[in-house]
Amino acid sequence: METSRKTFVGLVDKAIAAANSMRRDELLFSYKGTLYPRTLYSPETFKALESFEARSDDVILAGYPKSGTNWLSQILTDLIAISQKKTRSRESSVNAEELEVFPYLEVGDAEKYERMAKLPSQRFMVTNLRPENLPKSIFKNNAKILLLIRNPKDVATSYFHFSKGVATLPTYETWDDFFRDFMTKKTAWGCYLEYLSEWNKYADKENIMTVTYEEVKENPALSVKNIATFFGIPLTEEEFQLVVERSSFQAMKKNSDKTHGSFGDVLFRKGAVSDWKNLFSEDQSEKMDKAFEERIAGTKLGKKLKYDLYCKA
Ligand code: A3P
Repeated sequence: METSRKTFVGLVDKAIAAANSMRRDELLFSYKGTLYPRTLYSPETFKALESFEARSDDVILAGYPKSGTNWLSQILTDLIAISQKKTRSRESSVNAEELEVFPYLEVGDAEKYERMAKLPSQRFMVTNLRPENLPKSIFKNNAKILLLIRNPKDVATSYFHFSKGVATLPTYETWDDFFRDFMTKKTAWGCYLEYLSEWNKYADKENIMTVTYEEVKENPALSVKNIATFFGIPLTEEEFQLVVERSSFQAMKKNSDKTHGSFGDVLFRKGAVSDWKNLFSEDQSEKMDKAFEERIAGTKLGKKLKYDLYCKA
């Protein structure tokens, strides 16, 4: 794991340094109608991604930024590491260690997919992309996907604080300015409600398991067990405990200097449910309620989010 963590920290540090010398209006670029941070993404990598060959035993985590992807990444990499320790010799170790690929599938250099082709199974990858922007082979080859979703008001809240803390994203002077842009597709990674609605088209597929941030927070032990079962990873009770302990907010925050470098301070912020109540005005809350009602409420993912419980005052 050490090498891949170093790759992660190195790439993020480089992106932050590059962003520091850019103007605010240069930080994002548009690709197929969605904005992305220029210091981490490139059209060349997006193009190369189209021909990425997924495997049926790939472990893929899909989630919109700020929905807890780093948290679930920790859980999944630990589960895979434990499972591989039992089945492999030390020498042929795991995943990204020797080939050094950034865990976010669409982030990095365009040659990363050639290196990924040489990685042994089970490969782990995270993606912030909507399903229609993923390589076709993921669905054709029935790779298993863990889809992570979070209540939209907390996603927006987390995103606002995050954008103030990282140089790779445009900073917003006020929450009101951020909220306006978040609701009108002017922030990076596009509209979250659209993201949910696109993924909802896949929510019934057998090889996709959906979890919510709130349910993992409520019962991490049960969630870890369900996730391990979905990926066919048998664990002892002790191993489960270890994965749960290592992925607690406190444990991850404490270790974040090693795992995420300076970026860790911004990333591991509160790790709580309903922090949106500290930011949303009544009017903003109603706007989100209306948009959610119109676009997602009646769908499978909409129901799974328990909007009334987590997003109504
Ligand atoms: P907050 O900003 O609300 O605190 P992502 O990893 O997708 O960028 O998501 C970041 C959000 O997940 C942040 O939310 C962060 O604090 C939260 N998070 C990270 N690790 C967590 C953990 N172990 N338990 C709960 N929340 C966690």
